[in-house]
Amino acid sequence: MTARIAGIGAYVPENLITNDDLAKIVDTNDEWIRTRTGIRERRISSGEGTRHLAAKAAERALAAAGVAPEELDIIILGTSSPDRNYPSDACSVQAAIGAVNAVAFDISAACAGFIFAMNIVEGFFKAGIYKTALIIGAETLSKVTDWSDRGTCVLFGDGAGAAVLKAEETGIIDMMMGADGTKGDVLACTSRTVGNFLTGTKPELGFMTMDGQEVFKFAVRKVPESVMELLQRTGTKKEDIKYYVLHQANERIIEAAARRLKEPMEKFPMTIGQFGNTSTASIPLLLDDMIRKDMLKRGDKIIMSGFGAGMTWGAVLMEW
Ligand code: ACO
Repeated sequence: MTARIAGIGAYVPENLITNDDLAKIVDTNDEWIRTRTGIRERRISSGEGTRHLAAKAAERALAAAGVAPEELDIIILGTSSPDRNYPSDACSVQAAIGAVNAVAFDISAACAGFIFAMNIVEGFFKAGIYKTALIIGAETLSKVTDWSDRGTCVLFGDGAGAAVLKAEETGIIDMMMGADGTKGDVLACTSRTVGNFLTGTKPELGFMTMDGQEVFKFAVRKVPESVMELLQRTGTKKEDIKYYVLHQANERIIEAAARRLKEPMEKFPMTIGQFGNTSTASIPLLLDDMIRKDMLKRGDKIIMSGFGAGMTWGAVLMEW
């Protein structure tokens, strides 16, 4: 048995922030942001936490799949901006939606989180342990963003996306994951520093830091590499792939990956313009947008690819 997507759900906060809005708080402008990243606007939470966004996306995914919460065996939530160290946001979602029979836990794989969650579920399905799963990518990155740093604050947005996966005969064809911890400092966010009660030093909250050009180089190399690995391993031709559903970090990264793969931009749908980079939520948000536009038909082959802090990367070749 393998994992098939039975339903997708998405939720973004109402509060819409344009590039012009950001130009009022840091030295930037719409033209710079659009040409370097493709981002026009993003949603920023006015108070809803990661677990609240996640629960709303989860409810929509369950409704789309026609699956009752009690049918879920497992909930995996990928996030780099959890509301609490514990309990996990996945446990909060489990309570909020009434998934009384599901085990629930968070994973931390940054922007590759949704792909890692799918890989984990596939393992459980293949082993015959579980049959129905909910995976969620959810972020309120606004709470770890340094709003005085124009190099990062223009890039990110808040949002959540979820997928209900069912064990079926067809679905995931192949998948891969990777990690390179030696490049951890390229993109990092300290949660809280160690304080010292003897000297009275208080712990400090950390914010996101990034070496943009290193991230760019890494992504442009790793995305085509992982896509090609899946194509070669399965003997699938590029012509058979209808869409490449890439993590929405930056339009220029997606264009560069398309050039390296020698594939037309029409095969790379995007939502980066409207949501910015929502980290692990970006792939399910994009899938939700594609479903609304009726772009996916049963039997279509797609490759999803996520990459992010860690560094981490992963890809899934799937029949819709
Ligand atoms: N507005 C205006 N000017 C800016 C801004 C801004 N928001 N940010 C930086 N600049 C300035 C810099 O200060 C610099 O000015 P200087 O030449 O006077 O020093 C100039 O623009 C160029 O800065 P660079 O950092 O060299 O700009 P670059 O062309 O590399 O673009 C960017 C920056 C867009 C971040 C690029 O490196 C990139 O796309 N990197 C990929 C990173 C990414 O997408 N991260 C997302 C998170 S990671 C993930 O999802 C996996």
